[in-house]
Amino acid sequence: RARILSGMQPSADSLHLGNYLGALVQWRAMQEEYDAVYMIVDLHAITVPQDPGVLAQRTRVTAAQYLAGGIDVDKCTLFVQSHVPEHTQLAWVLNCLTGFGEASRMTQFKDKSLKQGSDTASVGLFTYPILQAADILLYQPEGVPVGEDQRQHVELSRDLAQRFNHRFGETFVVPQAFIQKESAKIQDLQNPAAKMSKSAESPNGLINLLDDPKVTAKRIKSAVTDDGTEIRYDKAEKPGVSNLLAIYSALSGKPIAAIEAEYQGKMYGHLKVDLADLVVSELAPIRARAQELLADPAELDRLLAVGAQKAREVAAVTLEEVYRKVGFLAPV
Ligand code: TYM
Repeated sequence: RARILSGMQPSADSLHLGNYLGALVQWRAMQEEYDAVYMIVDLHAITVPQDPGVLAQRTRVTAAQYLAGGIDVDKCTLFVQSHVPEHTQLAWVLNCLTGFGEASRMTQFKDKSLKQGSDTASVGLFTYPILQAADILLYQPEGVPVGEDQRQHVELSRDLAQRFNHRFGETFVVPQAFIQKESAKIQDLQNPAAKMSKSAESPNGLINLLDDPKVTAKRIKSAVTDDGTEIRYDKAEKPGVSNLLAIYSALSGKPIAAIEAEYQGKMYGHLKVDLADLVVSELAPIRARAQELLADPAELDRLLAVGAQKAREVAAVTLEEVYRKVGFLAPV
């Protein structure tokens, strides 16, 4: 089976609907067909200031949501990035192969550091895509399923793989980005020009997996819609309604055209009421299951330890080869 790999940050108290539809749902499907490696990237999370106790809890909460959402540790490898030290070890080698200008061109760094100001943005935030390249290349995957926002980072990992192979001999598989479908890209409910993101200005634009169903329903019903009354998918003219249709389609599995036909002549309110039901009935069992898992943190930690063990077996082989090729003296 071909290998794929992906990761998600433990950077909020709950995953949001964008993470769920854009990543988790795809991961769940892909573990059936691929040798899938999934990680919770806590090393990436500390590129911006974190509260230690909160970070540890968010790592568990993220793991619980993966499992509750159908990630099955018997079908894939699920682990926490900091449990596998090879990530930072390979990242150092790749840091030394990356040009300063090349790293400076990463648009996500530019956006995030602009928000923080260049004096407070950390060097870790700057080298973040290189750590991501290490995450990927250690496992020699063929595909990296991510959203469009991560395309540039996967490109960098391809460039670094090729550069290393060229300089030191064939070592890394050059991975491909598997970019999710357009309909899996979820926008903010209050500001449909922006992607749904935990760093949004208002929490009302977010649907969180672990929120109370009443909050979820209320946020959908108060989502920003557009002028006019027609329920039609048109991202330029009707970004709000289009986002609701995309969510509807992703959850129901119905094509957008079929949903448009169903709601012909109906009002935005009808669509919102039905969508709220659909979202709540999808998320409620996941929320309940995640809460059950979180009630037994020792068992959760045990599952993650098993995952880390499986991951290390692969990562150690790659790192050992890299160290040898770079010219590091083997310890005796
Ligand atoms: P992160 O944690 O920001 O996002 C995880 C995944 O969710 C996707 N995503 C979305 N999809 C649809 N709609 C949205 N509104 C939305 N918001 C986020 C992202 O595209 C991503 O696929 N740097 C990565 C984590 C990472 C990683 C890796 C990924 C670290 N190492 C190795 C792949 C391989 C990140 O911050 O993702």
